[in-house]
Amino acid sequence: MSNLTVIVLAAGGGTRMKSKTMKVLHRVGGRSMVGHVLAAAQSVAPTSVVAVVGHQREQVGPHVLALVPEAVLAVQETQEGTGHAVRVAVEALGGEVSGTVVVVTADTPLLRGDSLAAFVAEHEAAERAVSILSGEVEDPFGYGRIVRDAEGDVLAIVEQKEADHDQREIREINSGILAFDGAFLTEALPRIGNDNVKGEYYLTDAVGLARDAGLTVGAHCLADVKQTEGANDRAQLAALGKEINRRILHHWMTEVGVTIMDPDSTWIEDDVVLSRDVTILPNTQLLGATVVGEDTVIGPDVTLEDCEVGAGARVVRTHGQLAVVGDGADVGPWAYLRPGTRLGAGGKIGTFVETKNSEIGAGAKVPHLSYVGDAEIGEGTNIGAGTIFANYDGTAKHRTVVGRHAKTGSNNTFVAPVTIGDGAGTGGGTVVREDVPPGALAVSAGPQRNLEGWAGRRRPGTAQADAAAAASPDGPAASDD
Ligand code: UD1
Ligand code: MG
Repeated sequence: MSNLTVIVLAAGGGTRMKSKTMKVLHRVGGRSMVGHVLAAAQSVAPTSVVAVVGHQREQVGPHVLALVPEAVLAVQETQEGTGHAVRVAVEALGGEVSGTVVVVTADTPLLRGDSLAAFVAEHEAAERAVSILSGEVEDPFGYGRIVRDAEGDVLAIVEQKEADHDQREIREINSGILAFDGAFLTEALPRIGNDNVKGEYYLTDAVGLARDAGLTVGAHCLADVKQTEGANDRAQLAALGKEINRRILHHWMTEVGVTIMDPDSTWIEDDVVLSRDVTILPNTQLLGATVVGEDTVIGPDVTLEDCEVGAGARVVRTHGQLAVVGDGADVGPWAYLRPGTRLGAGGKIGTFVETKNSEIGAGAKVPHLSYVGDAEIGEGTNIGAGTIFANYDGTAKHRTVVGRHAKTGSNNTFVAPVTIGDGAGTGGGTVVREDVPPGALAVSAGPQRNLEGWAGRRRPGTAQADAAAAASPDGPAASDD
């Protein structure tokens, strides 16, 4: 196997983000910017990954290690330019590198793994000393320009501040993503100086050094130039986020067959998995590791994070996190699925219902105005409107178990820990404090007392009393005494 090192440059300050959070840690499309780059880097199967960290390295270092535990962190104490950053990385590897070395910047979240792999394959096949991933942009201001000779061979990269009038007209730019022959890079780095306008060590000077030594240099111009775009401030971050989202939605619509009614108000993160004939209605966000099965309709107004929704389900105006919704199940409108909710196939969590850490069996229904916490509800059971599973006694949480095919009345309170048996029932307004045996009907409200003529006696002269009098079998006069 070939020996391949990826060096990720992530030491810069990123002051234009105006943030406590380091630039490359800002999230876009469901991952940090550096997370996207590290994911793309995996596509070239690197033998080692080195991240150069400097500014806020106490934030960046652990984040990189969480994503790529085997990564090497190279600390660049002072940011003296990209050439200096790569030198620090090579020093962290023992002072020399062999094989292929790929340098990427940490703020290009659209970079795709297959583009990087194609770039590296071309670099290795052409046996070049240096390859540049370039792109042709409308406005090249600020970038290093790719200078070619009459034959089209690359002569040099000239930075914005060093470029003469003609060079500034060049629209082919250095993306900042470069591939090197490791042996060449090892001997070239110490020869890069900082005698330039910015007083920095420019990695891009390696191109001129390779040419001077008669080695091959080439540029691979990426047609999809957006993949090389970076974000320096939050406006650019939002624009890149929109572009990432547009690409993700396009993939699901064209490659898999997902209907997205309003792409402008639909946000789907990178790790979400959808199936054929899923329909997504406006204002829907599918986040994290959410998975949705075939023929399911989601939306409008749904946010699901790390949720699993089965096939043929329906989820309307719902907020869900770490919840599982079974095949053909029905959720919402206005449901709140908190972590640990598991709704079985064909079940229902209806309107104004909040659920947490609860297993609701196949075909079981909690249709209206209820809180279900720390519960187990058996298959085919129906929970009456306005039921509270009182799971918290002020100190500890307790479980409620409701058996199979039970039918509980409206406005119940189940005071946990308590068990309601299979096929049992409860009357309206029951407060269940003790277990209900299978098949029993529990009622806790006392017998009803009617105080006849109460409205007329205690609320005389009101609309209530008048209505009561009018309805009296003895006529309006009956309640006048
Ligand atoms: C660099 C390139 C330029 C290219 C542009 C693409 C050089 C000299 N120039 O310019 O040709 O068109 O990127 O965006 O390489 N960094 C460090 N340590 C440092 C300096 C930089 O880690 O000491 C990191 C930064 O965090 C950033 C990347 O390297 O991720 C690029 O640095 P930056 O200063 O933005 O370089 P540019 O001037 O944009
Ligand atoms: Mg830059």
